[in-house]
Amino acid sequence: MDSLGLLVWLTAVVTILSRSHADRNVYPSAGVLFVHVLEREYFKGEFPPYPKPGDASNDPITFNTNLMGYPDRPGWLRYIQRTPHSDGVLYGSPPWEHVGRPTVVEITAYNRRTFETARHNLIINIMSTEDFPLQYQAEFFIKNMNVEEMLASEVLGDFLGAVKNVWQPERLNAINITSALDRGGRVPLPINDLKEGVYVMVGADVPFSSCLREVESPQNQLRCSQEMEPVITCDKKFRAQFHIDWCKISLVDIKRVAPVVPERSPMGPGVLPDIGEYNPPSESLKSRDYFADFLITLAVPSAVALVLFIILGYSMCCRREGVEKRNMQTPDIQLVHHSSIQKSTKELRSMSKNREISWPLSTLPVFHPVSGEVVPPIHPDSYETTSMPLMQTQTNLQNQMQIPQQQPPGKWYS
Ligand SMILES: *[C@@H]1O[C@H](CO)[C@@H](O)[C@H](O)[C@H]1NC(C)=O
Repeated sequence: MDSLGLLVWLTAVVTILSRSHADRNVYPSAGVLFVHVLEREYFKGEFPPYPKPGDASNDPITFNTNLMGYPDRPGWLRYIQRTPHSDGVLYGSPPWEHVGRPTVVEITAYNRRTFETARHNLIINIMSTEDFPLQYQAEFFIKNMNVEEMLASEVLGDFLGAVKNVWQPERLNAINITSALDRGGRVPLPINDLKEGVYVMVGADVPFSSCLREVESPQNQLRCSQEMEPVITCDKKFRAQFHIDWCKISLVDIKRVAPVVPERSPMGPGVLPDIGEYNPPSESLKSRDYFADFLITLAVPSAVALVLFIILGYSMCCRREGVEKRNMQTPDIQLVHHSSIQKSTKELRSMSKNREISWPLSTLPVFHPVSGEVVPPIHPDSYETTSMPLMQTQTNLQNQMQIPQQQPPGKWYS
């Protein structure tokens, strides 16, 4: 049991060590196509085995690649993975400027079944090449390939072999590979196994062979302009595997390409006249004095407001002439008239207030209006009972009218 425990412990330690040293170093040359395959088989070991051993190989795995500390890859490095069941490929043409600085690319593998992840670092140490760049560069457009098919080393090897056959250079390198989709190509219809197409740039140290230059002949240029295939004698060297669009071949001698000198743009509408050099403001700027602005925006309105206040205050307080003067100027008869109206108005007002509270005792009837009996005065607090319904009052009256002894003696009955 002890030795078994030790073995388990050792295995665990070795696993941890190997995981912490999951960095991979690669040493591509600047200006030469770099291809790195992210193998699903390699990352599968990171994930726990599937219960049924046969199915484990079918785990869908996708990859995320980014420059360490950044969200995306370096600009020259591209990545493709067609389906989660195929390997991912990193590829690109390492630039000269990055020589000597290791580029650390984080590779995160996602198992799409278990949703587990594993991370590896790929350290790309770009090496310089003494004959960089190769002087003669040719770019071929291959119609019957997708980019990831072309990246497979045996396919690329076959292609370089064919190029070597028709060009016969000392040195030949693949420089760059670009999917036609990245150059404005369209996704093909899903018929006849059509492919997207891929551009492959190769470089060599000897001038282009006569076969490669055949497309430049006037007859072939004419055929290209009429969208017919040009007649190229060495096409049969490629034809078995690669369908090359010879009209799209580009041949560049980088020593002969004149450096592009920007022309002075001709004057025309939309071009501003040259008004000399731009003179930036000095770096030591004086702090601006805002006191005058303050005075104008605050003090002047307050002064105007103060003057208005004084004028109004003087005319309202000190120039008032008062009631006496008005009375002196008014004829006496008018004043009397006016004051009598005022008095009666006040009286009416006070009476209207009293009406709401209670009836004055003096206004209540002391005698019954018909019988003349002495009616006890209604208590002022219950004056509401006076508003009894009219009908009841009338029946009362009828009852009381039949009482004869209340009438004065017999003048009308005699
Ligand atoms: C390689 O191809 C890509 C895509 O077309 C391009 O952005 C890049 O500049 C090329 N690199 C070289 C060295 O030509």
